[in-house]
Amino acid sequence: MQTLEEALVQRLHRECKKGVDGSAVVDIWDLISKLAVDMIGEACFGVSFRMVETGNDHPLPNSIAKSLVSAALFNSLPILHYIPFFKRIDPYLANFVLGAINERRTSGVRRYDILQLLLDMQQNEDFALTDEEIRKESMIFFAAGSETTGNTTSFTVIDLVHNPACLAKLRQELDDTFPDPMGTTPITHDACKALPYLNAVLNEGMRLHPVTLTGVTREPDDDFVLGPYALPKGTIVVSDFPRAQTNTKYWGEDAKQFNPDRFLPGKEQPTDAFYPFSGGTRNCIGKNFAWMEMRLTLAHLLRRFDIEFIPGQNESIVQFITVRLVENKYNIRVRPRTL
Ligand code: HEM
Repeated sequence: MQTLEEALVQRLHRECKKGVDGSAVVDIWDLISKLAVDMIGEACFGVSFRMVETGNDHPLPNSIAKSLVSAALFNSLPILHYIPFFKRIDPYLANFVLGAINERRTSGVRRYDILQLLLDMQQNEDFALTDEEIRKESMIFFAAGSETTGNTTSFTVIDLVHNPACLAKLRQELDDTFPDPMGTTPITHDACKALPYLNAVLNEGMRLHPVTLTGVTREPDDDFVLGPYALPKGTIVVSDFPRAQTNTKYWGEDAKQFNPDRFLPGKEQPTDAFYPFSGGTRNCIGKNFAWMEMRLTLAHLLRRFDIEFIPGQNESIVQFITVRLVENKYNIRVRPRTL
């Protein structure tokens, strides 16, 4: 069975075949976003959107993006909760998730996915979730698991097209690991996981493009002393790790430059200033999933295609919970590799 990353490769081949010189200009931001939604759709609900394969749009990603914007607005303007006209959750999204719950229950089919885990918990009277709680949990996974990974991978691709020497080094590592002229050796996660430069590139991408640009917040239940600060109970503390991640005090004069070498084994990293997935007991629950998805996406793209910067792209960013390009669009040129 074709994996979702292989579907990306096939889709890019199809686009290139349409080009007169065997290459194609593709909106890589859009494709990687679609891939991320395809993946979380499978992992969360066992639903195949197949957006990368078919090229069709699905209303769901748009609906998730709308809900993130509205979550940001409701957080900054709590008065909106009291105005019935404003809906915090897009009804389409809510109904989609409730539909998936009902379908799973009535079909009797068991799948190894997040929805199944949540439904199984209904058998445990100590942790039983209501359908409404399952709906909310599922939507968090959907929102937290799609834009985050998709945008991080896309930002890293943008870094790579701006830094051809890093791109060449990563491609060499992939070629050495998957040396198959016919393109038939499967690119597995086990192999990707052990690649020092691939991991370094992704760490550097996350350092420069943290998805939570404004940091994460915590509220102590009791009075608390943090270093030199006495924090009364209920103080809102913002841990500003995004700024720490580009602070020259920790990362040196080239703190704002894309330099994956700093994450290679043997290099000393300021671990106190690097928290892409946050820290403590409430850190990102999906980080292993995210790592797997990002490694496989980059490895498939770069092992099979040459990618090239196209001048004139709008790289301005905006944040609504996660950080994204203002235009949600980024064109690159792709050309199939022949070795
Ligand atoms: C590059 C990708 C990702 C990054 C950088 C990222 C980062 C984060 C961060 C910074 C938090 C906040 C934690 C805190 O409050 O301390 C978080 C929470 C969360 N993430 Fe991720 N995440 C990513 C991918 C994912 C994926 C793929 C999933 C699901 C499969 C996921 C599910 C969640 C959930 C459910 C939470 C809330 C955890 C809680 O409140 O206990 N994330 N993530």
